[in-house]
Amino acid sequence: MTPGARVQAAIELLDSIDTGGSAEKVLTSWGRRSRFAGSGDRAAVRDHVFQVLRCYRSYACLGGAQTGRGRMIGALRAEGLDPADTFTGEGHAPAPLTNMELSAGVEPVGADALDLNDWVLDEFRASLGSCAEAAAMALRTRAPVMVRVDLRRATRDDAIGVLAGDNISSAVHPIATTALCITGGARRIARSRAYLDGMIELQDGSGQAAMEAIELEGVQSILDYCAGGGGKALALATRSDARIYVHDVDPSRMQDIPARAARAGVSITSLLTSALPRKAPYDIVLCDAPCSGSGTWRRTPEAKWRLTSERLTALTQLQSQILPSAAALVAPKGQLIYATCSLLKAENEDRIDAFLSTVPGWKLVRARRFDVTDGGDGFFLARMIRL
Ligand SMILES: C[S@@+](CC[C@H](N)C(=O)[O-])C[C@H]1O[C@@H](n2cnc3c(N)ncnc32)[C@H](O)[C@@H]1O
Repeated sequence: MTPGARVQAAIELLDSIDTGGSAEKVLTSWGRRSRFAGSGDRAAVRDHVFQVLRCYRSYACLGGAQTGRGRMIGALRAEGLDPADTFTGEGHAPAPLTNMELSAGVEPVGADALDLNDWVLDEFRASLGSCAEAAAMALRTRAPVMVRVDLRRATRDDAIGVLAGDNISSAVHPIATTALCITGGARRIARSRAYLDGMIELQDGSGQAAMEAIELEGVQSILDYCAGGGGKALALATRSDARIYVHDVDPSRMQDIPARAARAGVSITSLLTSALPRKAPYDIVLCDAPCSGSGTWRRTPEAKWRLTSERLTALTQLQSQILPSAAALVAPKGQLIYATCSLLKAENEDRIDAFLSTVPGWKLVRARRFDVTDGGDGFFLARMIRL
């Protein structure tokens, strides 16, 4: 496909997404019916679509229209390119710009420039104060690909060498002692020797740094109460000989954990809700709660636009239900770790305050927000001790 044909494909996919299709489904279905598109074409079209979704408002301003075509014009202008060079009408490229399109387009300001819904910008300002705009701007850019090195198996330098053998370039990242940033060949990771041998695992840098901050000395049992795919439990398992258990209200979300644990050479036991003990046996209960994901919106940009204030309220209610249930499983003097991948105070500090003011016998030791950076997504971690 020519560069123009890729842009035209992205325009059509963006219009489908605008009418309610999910980006992943729309891209998959386009890939199936577009046999002519090679892997480079697919990646390029995907990049266009995701970048426009990250910058949905600002690109519409720059392009002068709230359509796939308008936003792609805006995307090119944002890169300092002249859209007329791509919109040629040749080789399946989009039709040339009309006179109206040539004169349309304004510089975005306010929430348009920050690419947030108005009410979300208010939440960001209330949560992050002077850091709100920097966080919003960081969410407009592509996320890094980060991997965690299992330091029991290799040093980071060893892992860099093994990855290089599979034509994958990487560099040490300071966000965590285990972190590597993949700088080239990211699409080859799942087939690489380092990955298949369990030397590395895909994990965002903030998640790695957060798990590294958990005090594990003397800990004999850990329950990951909202385990999902088990990324956090796996990181803890490589640092501790404690017995590790995982649980999720939706057990199907844990289906990949046995294979991931086998690859990492660790033992992790999955528990159904009905199998959770009545007593409080765990030295640590990690509660990586369901949340808006606002810290990860550069990876899932559609979620940024789909979050409503009603949904945020429902999430905070769910978080406030989950925390006491998880807390009830912590042994005396044990730790309750509350985490989200959200930047919003309503899902973080406010939930901790609500928990501490309604459930006696707990002390907050530390709460920390991880900002969106070149190595990590937005994340929040609070550590509480049972008195
Ligand atoms: C943020 S995700 C966990 C991500 C995971 N820790 C990881 O690192 O891959 C939150 C998980 O909480 C689960 N969940 C939702 N409500 C729950 C509840 N009431 N009890 C336990 N888990 C719940 C969801 O199914 C989801 O898998």
